[in-house]
Amino acid sequence: MDATGTPPGTPFSTLIRVASHEQHTEAETSAFMSNMLGGRLGVRAYARYTEQLWFVYRALEEGAQLLREDPVAGPFIRPELMRTAELERDLAHLRGPDWRTGLAPLPATAAYAARVAQCARDWPAGYVAHHYTRYLGDLSGGQIIRDKAERTWGFARKGDGVRFYVFERIPNPSAFKRGYRELLDAVDVDDLEKQRIVDECKRAFEYNGAVFRELGAEFPLSA
Ligand code: HEM
Repeated sequence: MDATGTPPGTPFSTLIRVASHEQHTEAETSAFMSNMLGGRLGVRAYARYTEQLWFVYRALEEGAQLLREDPVAGPFIRPELMRTAELERDLAHLRGPDWRTGLAPLPATAAYAARVAQCARDWPAGYVAHHYTRYLGDLSGGQIIRDKAERTWGFARKGDGVRFYVFERIPNPSAFKRGYRELLDAVDVDDLEKQRIVDECKRAFEYNGAVFRELGAEFPLSA
């Protein structure tokens, strides 16, 4: 066993999942997420959350353009994952055609997006950690979030407002995730670098947690 409690030879995809498991539970059960998905917050909170995602995915997907040919990060860059256009349609629905006017990230979101951009520029393996944390999550729990959002705020099923969660070009998310885990297992870096990727994944979860905390402060439950 090593520090993650997994035996030597554990596939990297398992290692990164196990290492981030605790933080995943924290993210799922954060006050903002549970209040939002428990139907206790208005659509304005959902819109504010979606705005934050736009800043994060813009950094992820501008980074993707830089890394297409990169030996480590390149294989992860897939057009069917890209979310910026979907987020922009959702924001046009949520905020109106002038959605961009006055749109500003929360401080935690700005820090998160800056870290993603920095990894994309200087450290492709670190970028992989951010890519994994968001896209594999969107393909998994994202579907639960979509379902709750549709029911709570009355968005059309898979329509405007929740397009971010709809991967039109990934008809079989389970199969896609299997392929993604194979890519993780094949990442061609040494064990030390793999550990650094795991650490960056934990950092990515921390960034998400910080965004949730700031959203929670902006949208407390009124007594
Ligand atoms: C209420 C919110 C959330 C729910 C309900 C949720 C739910 C889930 C579920 C059901 C899975 C599938 C587990 C499996 O396939 O075995 C999953 C996987 C995942 N989630 Fe979440 N999640 C939430 C929030 C988040 C957040 C905020 C992040 C990070 C930003 C995240 C990142 C991930 C990742 C990376 C995976 C893939 C784990 C792996 O198989 O390697 N999730 N989530």
